[in-house]
Amino acid sequence: MASPNTSIDSNENLPSSLSRVPVMEAINVSKSFGAVNALIEASTSLYSGEVKAIVGDNGAGKSTFLKILSGLIQPDTGEMRFEGNPVKFEAPIQALNLGIQTVYQDLALIDTMTATQNVFVGREKLSPNPLLRAFRIVDDKEMTANAMGVLSELGIKIPSLKETVRKMSGGQRQCLAIARAMLFGHKLIILDEPTAALGVHESAQVLTVINKVREKGLAVVLVSHNMQHVFEISDSVLVMRLGKSIATKRTEDSSTQEIVGLITGAIAP
Ligand SMILES: Nc1ncnc2c1ncn2[C@@H]1O[C@H](COP(=O)(O)OP(=O)(O)O)[C@@H](O)[C@H]1O
Ligand SMILES: [Mg+2]
Repeated sequence: MASPNTSIDSNENLPSSLSRVPVMEAINVSKSFGAVNALIEASTSLYSGEVKAIVGDNGAGKSTFLKILSGLIQPDTGEMRFEGNPVKFEAPIQALNLGIQTVYQDLALIDTMTATQNVFVGREKLSPNPLLRAFRIVDDKEMTANAMGVLSELGIKIPSLKETVRKMSGGQRQCLAIARAMLFGHKLIILDEPTAALGVHESAQVLTVINKVREKGLAVVLVSHNMQHVFEISDSVLVMRLGKSIATKRTEDSSTQEIVGLITGAIAP
């Protein structure tokens, strides 16, 4: 698929990517919090059907970059492009409307709600019956069918959609959160540490789901500290260091050693 390359943000130099417009692009984006320069002219391109892993030390700017990509915060300077067109998110809802969904680390699942209710929380479908609709009675059947559809599409097995999620494993919860993102996002899925705090088996489950999301043709960007997972799931790796995007490598042309060297500064970009 890819030829060897070493240049910074080298996706653009690949023949396979030349004719493609990235779903999302950040170009020389900077962001400061008071005296802290969290991001310094960081750039990246996210393509449909590709998973990009963002790696870097604590404080490298990874989460800040994800928040900018998800429209949660605005960059001070630099340019964002969505499908080739300049875009400025004034509020996260604008990103949501473009088909961009973020799964945050704490997942924001509500323990006392069922799996279906969690998938549709805040976006409940009202009953087709006008009378029930008037009383804002939701269409449980339709929502359960939709939730089941997306779960089976992603190969996620959840014991019962009608039970509260309290008893679900960490892996199932993460998969459910990704499924929810898939149902409402059709362009870009943003994942902050999707396998953090999960065991081996559960991580494998989540990686399988991410794979399915890629196969559906969405762009995926995720932050991870787990090099094994990064190499298992990603097509390219963006290394961040001290607020800068210092290198992008095609995963298949790189190695754990190289990526760790770039993260620590032992290898110059
Ligand atoms: N809301 C904020 N207010 C002040 N400083 C922040 C804020 N968010 C992030 N920072 C700072 O910006 C830098 C980058 O943070 P972050 O993007 O969270 O890094 P990472 O996710 O790579 O660990 C850190 O020094 C962090 O303390
Ligand atoms: Mg972070």
